Amino acid sequence: MNQITGRNFQVAEKEKIVQLTKDYGVEIDERNMDHYSNIGIEGWWGEKTLLPGLHQVNPIRGKFVIDLFKQYQISNSHQIIEIGCGGGIFCEYIARQGYNILGVDISSGSISVAQEHALKNNLTVNYQTASVYELPFADESFDVVMSSDFLEHIEDLERAIYEMSRILKQNGLFIFDTISRSEKSVQTYMSLESQGLIPPGVHDPFLFVQPEELETLATKYGIEFARDDNNPYGFLIEAIEIIDGSFQLESIKAKDNFGTYIGYGIKK
Ligand SMILES: C[S@@+](CC[C@H](N)C(=O)[O-])C[C@H]1O[C@@H](n2cnc3c(N)ncnc32)[C@H](O)[C@@H]1O
Repeated sequence: MNQITGRNFQVAEKEKIVQLTKDYGVEIDERNMDHYSNIGIEGWWGEKTLLPGLHQVNPIRGKFVIDLFKQYQISNSHQIIEIGCGGGIFCEYIARQGYNILGVDISSGSISVAQEHALKNNLTVNYQTASVYELPFADESFDVVMSSDFLEHIEDLERAIYEMSRILKQNGLFIFDTISRSEKSVQTYMSLESQGLIPPGVHDPFLFVQPEELETLATKYGIEFARDDNNPYGFLIEAIEIIDGSFQLESIKAKDNFGTYIGYGIKK
């Protein structure tokens, strides 16, 4: 296990998180379990996929990303990478819009699934097994580095952001979505787990990431978040919420009142 970095726990916050998990009857000691490596192509992609949320959220996070590509004139001649791509759900979405993308994941089982699924669907997506902690790429080799539903699984967040920034070209885009460590999101994810709607042990609330923590690390490693003075954080992030049964983007009006958020920065 790596050391947990990049999170600044407030006084008594850890006790509060432990209490919240107990309130929901979530008792598994081991957290951040690898649920993904062994679920196979059926688990990632089948009609009875074990990851329905990732499929449902695809058009929402996808639109955010494609709008950014248009705004920053990213084309199919640019180098795009997704770190923590799993079975390729998000990579395929981006590839279908006509972009070249490389997906990287620590799990060779998930990378095999991603390769098999792309092949079956006549899609060109490159995949490679590697850890975010040691990305086998030269400095400044990508125009876009993306991570989706990934950073909340990473213990050494500082090393991960360092590596992702290292491989990003100057003026390149760093695009992310992840889960905040608010009381609301801990309650939401523990409640989903206790109802059996997400697999037991897959999330460790201690690894959830506050937007300020992400911005601090990104800034340290040369990535400047897009500004938004109307946002209480002062930088552009939007919440991904389930409203009337479907995922939607919501502007953030108050701190700590959301779960998943999406945003981006530019490498300086
Ligand atoms: C929730 S899945 C997200 C999959 C994909 N990004 C999506 O949204 O469809 C998280 C992924 O992170 C991968 N992962 C965890 N630790 C990693 C690491 N150190 N380096 C690279 N990938 C990692 C897991 O294997 C898993 O496939």
